Amino acid sequence: MKQASIRHFLNTQDWSRAELDALLAQAAAFKCDKPGDQLKGKSIALVFFNPSLRTRTSFELGAFQLGGHAVVLQPGKDAWPIEFDFGTVMDGEAEEHIAEVAKVLGRYVDLVGVRAFPKFVDWRHDREDQVLKSFAKYSPVPVINMETITHPCQELAHVQALQEHFGTTDLRGKKYVLTWTYHPKPLNTAVANSALTIATRMGMDVTLLCPTPDFILDERYIGWANANVAESGGSFAISHDIESAYTGADVVYAKSWGALPYFGNWAAEKPIRDRYRHFIVDEAKMALTDNGVFSHCLPLRRNVKATDAVMDSPNCIAIAEAENRLHVQKAVMAALANQ
Ligand code: CP
Repeated sequence: MKQASIRHFLNTQDWSRAELDALLAQAAAFKCDKPGDQLKGKSIALVFFNPSLRTRTSFELGAFQLGGHAVVLQPGKDAWPIEFDFGTVMDGEAEEHIAEVAKVLGRYVDLVGVRAFPKFVDWRHDREDQVLKSFAKYSPVPVINMETITHPCQELAHVQALQEHFGTTDLRGKKYVLTWTYHPKPLNTAVANSALTIATRMGMDVTLLCPTPDFILDERYIGWANANVAESGGSFAISHDIESAYTGADVVYAKSWGALPYFGNWAAEKPIRDRYRHFIVDEAKMALTDNGVFSHCLPLRRNVKATDAVMDSPNCIAIAEAENRLHVQKAVMAALANQ
């Protein structure tokens, strides 16, 4: 039974800095080199509970480029709906239990990827990351987080893009702003949690810019940020002041998310969020930076989250970051499948 010793990729925080650096070095090598054969004869099940363009494409092609095979499953659409609670009398929609799903997939494939966004009803429940943790608990093969309440593959792609832009793997001392931006819907906090986690891990001087205290991220990720800077030598602050946060920034990373105190009560949150449309990333704000680089995980609504001019600027590295998903995920799959 392999289960006791297998390594998953659920969060970068579970991996040492040296291990993350090794993944990034392998990703950089994959970007330059011809495709390898690290997944020859191996396969991955990609389980999507939510839509995707980049994640699905880059995982499928990444597995193919390393000689492997990917199978995409969408429970509730083209695969049976799954139950995650224990002791439930399964007389509702779910046709099978995660205990069987994870074990059966483990008899077929060598890796399992999981995308499962929060339900956006009760953050106290969503923050437990039940779907991902259940797969990891029952899977006899390594599990990869393809975005749940964090997005660790996006973190690595983001760092790789920054390292390429600045021409160095050492990002210490860079002034990094994670800014909330407006969106008509309350979005997942996953990428924001992840950006805060990896930017502080890399020793940058990080500011979380958001409209009010209601938009501050979950205390778990604030705690990680504080712990990370204590170790990496960076710094971490929270600001609600646009001008001071942008001034002198080297990196502006934008993301929209719903205010946690209003989880499940989005009708009450919407008029509050609607007051902060001016958090859009525009040329005037970017002009305050130190020729700062801009990025976003994508998808992005132009002229809502960031203007056309910012997206089309040579300082926008969002496309490079998206490309790097392919390279970092190949590094993660190769490492996990050959442990
Ligand atoms: N950034 C990202 O994960 O994109 P998709 O939602 O398209 O996969």
